[in-house]
Amino acid sequence: MGSALLFVVFVLLISCGEASVSYDRKAISVNGKKRILISGSIHYPRSTPEMWPDLIQKAKEGGLDVIQTYVFWNGHESEPGKYYFEGRYDLVKFVKLVHQAGLYVSLRIGPYVCAEWNFGGFPVWLKYVRGIDFRTNNGPFKAEMQKFTTKIVNMMKSERLFESQGGPIILSQVENEYGPMENEIGAPGRAYTQWAAKMAVGLNTGVPWIMCKQDDAPDPVINTCNGFYCDYFSPNKAYKPKMWTEAWTGWFSEFGGATPYRPAEDLAFSVAKFIQKGGSFINYYMYHGGTNFGRTAGGPFITTSYDYDAPLDEYGLLREPKWGHLKDLHRAIKLCEPALVSADPIVTSLGRSQEAHVYRSRSGGCAAFLANYDQHLYARISFGNMHYNLPPWSISILPDCKNTVYNTARIGAQSSQMKMTPATKGFAWQSYNEETASSYGENSFTVSGLREQINTTRDNTDYLWYSTDVRIDPREGFLRGGKWPVLTVLSAGHALHVFINGQLSGTTYGSLSSPKITFNRGVNLRAGINKISLLSIAVGLPNVGPHFERWNAGILGPVKLGGLNEGTRDLTWQKWTYKIGLKGEALSLHSLSGSSSVEWLQGSLVAQRQPLTWYKTTFNAPGGNEPLALDMDTMSKGQVWINGQSIGRYWNQYKASGNCGACNYAGWFTEKKCLSNCGKASQRWYHVPRSWLYPTGNLLVVFEEWGGNPAGISLVKREVSSVCADIYEWQPTLMNWQMQASGKANKPLPPKAHLSCAAGQKISSIKFASFGTPQGTCGGYREGSCHAFHSYDVFQRYCIGQQSCTVPVAAAIFGGDPCPKIMKKLSVELVCS
Ligand code: GAL
Repeated sequence: MGSALLFVVFVLLISCGEASVSYDRKAISVNGKKRILISGSIHYPRSTPEMWPDLIQKAKEGGLDVIQTYVFWNGHESEPGKYYFEGRYDLVKFVKLVHQAGLYVSLRIGPYVCAEWNFGGFPVWLKYVRGIDFRTNNGPFKAEMQKFTTKIVNMMKSERLFESQGGPIILSQVENEYGPMENEIGAPGRAYTQWAAKMAVGLNTGVPWIMCKQDDAPDPVINTCNGFYCDYFSPNKAYKPKMWTEAWTGWFSEFGGATPYRPAEDLAFSVAKFIQKGGSFINYYMYHGGTNFGRTAGGPFITTSYDYDAPLDEYGLLREPKWGHLKDLHRAIKLCEPALVSADPIVTSLGRSQEAHVYRSRSGGCAAFLANYDQHLYARISFGNMHYNLPPWSISILPDCKNTVYNTARIGAQSSQMKMTPATKGFAWQSYNEETASSYGENSFTVSGLREQINTTRDNTDYLWYSTDVRIDPREGFLRGGKWPVLTVLSAGHALHVFINGQLSGTTYGSLSSPKITFNRGVNLRAGINKISLLSIAVGLPNVGPHFERWNAGILGPVKLGGLNEGTRDLTWQKWTYKIGLKGEALSLHSLSGSSSVEWLQGSLVAQRQPLTWYKTTFNAPGGNEPLALDMDTMSKGQVWINGQSIGRYWNQYKASGNCGACNYAGWFTEKKCLSNCGKASQRWYHVPRSWLYPTGNLLVVFEEWGGNPAGISLVKREVSSVCADIYEWQPTLMNWQMQASGKANKPLPPKAHLSCAAGQKISSIKFASFGTPQGTCGGYREGSCHAFHSYDVFQRYCIGQQSCTVPVAAAIFGGDPCPKIMKKLSVELVCS
């Protein structure tokens, strides 16, 4: 069937009212009702099933209508035909929980997902299917892709999970950001796109399919936008709605990198801008980022934390003010929904960088968005017969075309500062020495030359030993006080420990932007036979880039020894012995049964600052229900397990480089603009899900590659340490508008600061309070030149000893106006304990 005909059929279906989810140029309709839909990504394997209900509930309270997730193929089919849909991979359970909460699901099946996930979601075995070529017009690839996609669709159908069957799934995605790849590879890419769309549509889910970053998405598939801003975007056909599948709430972290964050004001601005320009579906990527447990992190070099500066933090706690500021935005947008879905905007200029977008529906509704795009200047504009003040880089929302209920740069929600407090008293460790590959047993073989790592390990482990013997003649000059010979090792990545006769002689590693490494250093050799053992470590497989599946890892050479009497000796083509994985891995030392199969050193014999060491201990679960983490800051690099489950890779020795200067919300955001944590470990804390713990006797196992001090490891709780508010005089609020609209107030009321500590906590002291012109941000406020002397009194009276309190922000409350004619605000920080 030609695509035009297909489209006609689709339109017919829609107009006959048979499809429960349909679309037109304005919006997605669910059961005949056009909707502005707010969605957020929560990837099910990046949290635990025990966390899911709470995450979904918090998403709902934050004003979301839809939860979006990818489907993670390599988690479901790690061996061909052997499927796994349990535990963190229980997709059906996840979808049903979203349904129970009354939300919809947008299912991004892919099955390529990118997502900073190991190998972009592809199982590693896929690479070894005969004749395969990934993500192009290739028979074997298409067959496997179709098989898995069909498997997922059928599974959802048999559980009646598509909206057309009464379930929550309103959209599905095939492929992921294939457009840029197609541009690179040309004709076969275009053919593949056509095939993928047709294959997906042929699965008859009864709900629309989307393709993101795919300008040529074939009808009826909707092409959608991903990015920090998407207001400029329009779909490829006039009858498709304008959808934003990835509104990046922050960015991912990599080992060696600083921690990116995105100011809530700019995120809200980008969303308001998208909606004002006719967008009707927005998905936050991520709404909850979570954790790359086990070896699921891609990259390479992606951290175990996938926090993403999302509205729900890695641990599932509210990230304030982002969560609250977006919640307020969603309420404001929803008030405009009737006008937004039924009218086209009338755009008028209000100044050099100011605009109004007005939506007037036939039924008489009117909604307006007033925008100030200037990055530095406030704008005072007139609209209707009123005046409005617009902060720089902000949009005001007026659901009745008169009253502002929300401005993207005026945060009404509180901010919170978090802290990590010790939850246990320290651990009694035992240690076990992993061997450098001097004795080989299982999983070892000897061949001439150097082998690529992933082809050898099939990614069953991060570790591959390359070992060879080097004979040093007793007449070598360096043995008589000369310079040590220099060992040069070229590796395709990602990290390398060099052992000479069992002693660690050096370490080198790459980064996300340059995973390749070169080791080049003098090594201490002796006369006779020397053993050179190279431990090559993969730190996650790439997840993006043209044919990322072909990227190599491991030592490909050359390997050379310079500074000998003969000059340089090339070791590349001599005999190398390979051992896949560690002895401790073969023994399953991370598990309860495995860890009791060997003798561990105890007390004063426990290894300290020694490479290749396993540590174990047991501990009881701390009380309370705060999320838990391991503080690994005295360790270097390795992996951690609790009760046999992998917490992930840790790498505290890799410090964050980058520029962590001040960051203003105003102006175009990029992932490099706002960074924190420079000079510290890229990731210090590692999430320990509460549900993985028993009340007593939990087994904690650490494998340290490099040398660390286990005495410094501690279990910590994540808690709110203080809460802040920054509220301007006369800042618009929804509450105020509602009071006036319902006749409960006849004049504007002052805005209010709402502050609350976590359940079970109380406000114990005031760290800072100033009504006037205070400076700085939460955690670092200071008084400005204008300060009301009674700023503290009100908080003393209303807040101390309470779990939460509300204080109106008006001069009279703080003992009178401290500086008339100047715009004032309140900044306050209250300590929670
Ligand atoms: C997008 C991609 C996502 C994720 C994101 C960066 O391009 O579709 O899967 O990788 O970038 O976090």
